[in-house]
Parts: sequence; structure tokens; C-alpha cells
Amino acid sequence: MDRGEAILRELNLYPLWKRREQSVPDKVQEPAGHLTEPSAPTILEAVSQDEAVVFRKPGFGKSGQSESEWGNLNWSELKQQVTGCTACKLRAGCTQTVFGVGEEKADWLFVGEGPGADEDVQGEPFVGQAGKLLDSMLAAIKLKRGQSVYIANIVKCRPPNNRTPATNEIAQCLPYLQRQIELLQPKLIVALGKVASNALLGQEATLASLRNAQHDYHGIPLIVTYHPAYLLRSPTEKAKAWQDMCFAVKVMAQVTDKNA
Ligand code: URA
Repeated sequence: MDRGEAILRELNLYPLWKRREQSVPDKVQEPAGHLTEPSAPTILEAVSQDEAVVFRKPGFGKSGQSESEWGNLNWSELKQQVTGCTACKLRAGCTQTVFGVGEEKADWLFVGEGPGADEDVQGEPFVGQAGKLLDSMLAAIKLKRGQSVYIANIVKCRPPNNRTPATNEIAQCLPYLQRQIELLQPKLIVALGKVASNALLGQEATLASLRNAQHDYHGIPLIVTYHPAYLLRSPTEKAKAWQDMCFAVKVMAQVTDKNA
């Protein structure tokens, strides 16, 4: 099995080769084995992309001035602030805060919802089953955790029984992520799931209505895809997640070209 095939098998998308007019197969196969580095850029061309809608909101970081609540903090001060945070009741029910992981000048930022049980123990986002799938999704587009990739969550403390974070918990915690984004200045944000997407975009919309569009987070392109935990429960949706990842690669290429 070559590397490209291994990647597609891991995402349950193998075989992908088909006539261009056909859509990505809905049928999935069992994932096969360990994922290695992707080899074939051509697999990115195998899925045709519809023309994306571009939604733009007025950026409000354009003055160059930080406008986040923690706008004066550097990375280590921000980490300290998060570690000591008791602003909502989530902290009392979790083991530790989960700040984020990756290069502090990463081009790519992936944002999830909040830590689960494994993340709560290890103090790192996406280290459980959903994290393994996220790592596969990254590998499928030749990315790797920690290499120009930063991973963070909307809330830094595990909600009890992995429930969805409440609106007030998101509101309390979001300024930390906003400051992380200011410090990172990623070229592209990928929001994983509806909670992360709506929190970052400041709206209440369905994931379906947000996919396949380039959104704007304070001047940074943002795209939306399924949460890996959802994909584990609904593996047939992995084909759509694959399309989203291909779209993300395309947007990143455009951003990089523009800045070249
Ligand atoms: N789900 C998330 O949204 N974030 C994690 O870190 C782990 C699972």
C-alpha cells in the first residue's frame, strides 16, 4: 500500500479514484492500519470543489491594536492567566486547564470545542480518539501537530460528562482564545464543529450552512468542518470532511500566494 492510499484508508475514503464528474463515495471501508506521511499531492485534486461563497464581516483588528480582553499579555502571561482562571464553574470540575499546543507562530490553527477526558488528564487538546482522527486529517493534507499547526479549544476546561459548554462558559473563555489568535496570527483557522464555528463567528448557524465557505475572523480566513468526534460517530461524513480539508488547502494556497 502506498502512502496516499494509507491516508485515504485512514479517512475511510479509499478508493477515491473516480471520474471527475462523480462525487466522493459515501460508502466507507474500515480504516486500515497506521497512517504515514501523505505522498500524493494529486489526491487533493481528486475531489472537485464547488465555488466557495466568501462571507466577509468587517475586521475589527484592522487598526493593528489589540482589542482582546487580554491584549496586553504575552504567551507565558496568557498561559498563567488561563491556569489560574476560575471565572466559570468548569474549573472546579476538571483536573487541569488545557491551554493549546503547537508552534506559537503556526500558519494553521485548528479549534475544537473543549477538552474531553483524555485531554483533561494529559493537559493537551485532541489526544484521545478524536485527536487520533484529527492527526489523520492533518496528515492527509501533509500537516503534523506541532509543525506550523496550533491546536486549541473554545473552552480550556473539560465540561462535565463532555457536555456542550454553556453560553456563559464560552463567553468567559473566548477572550483567551482571541488573545491566542492575536499572538499566533495564523494564516488560516479551521473551526472543528458547530460550537467552535459559531463561537468564533459570533452567530448561531448550522454546520451545514457554514461549510464550503470562506468566512472571516478579524481579517483571517476561517473555514468550517465537522468535529472529529462527530466523524467517529458518523463515519460516512468523512468524505465531506475530506472535501473541507481540500478546501482549506486551497484557501491557504491563495492566502500564501497573496502574501508572497
Ligand atoms: N474534543 C474537542 O473539542 N477538543 C479536544 O481537545 C478533544 C476533544
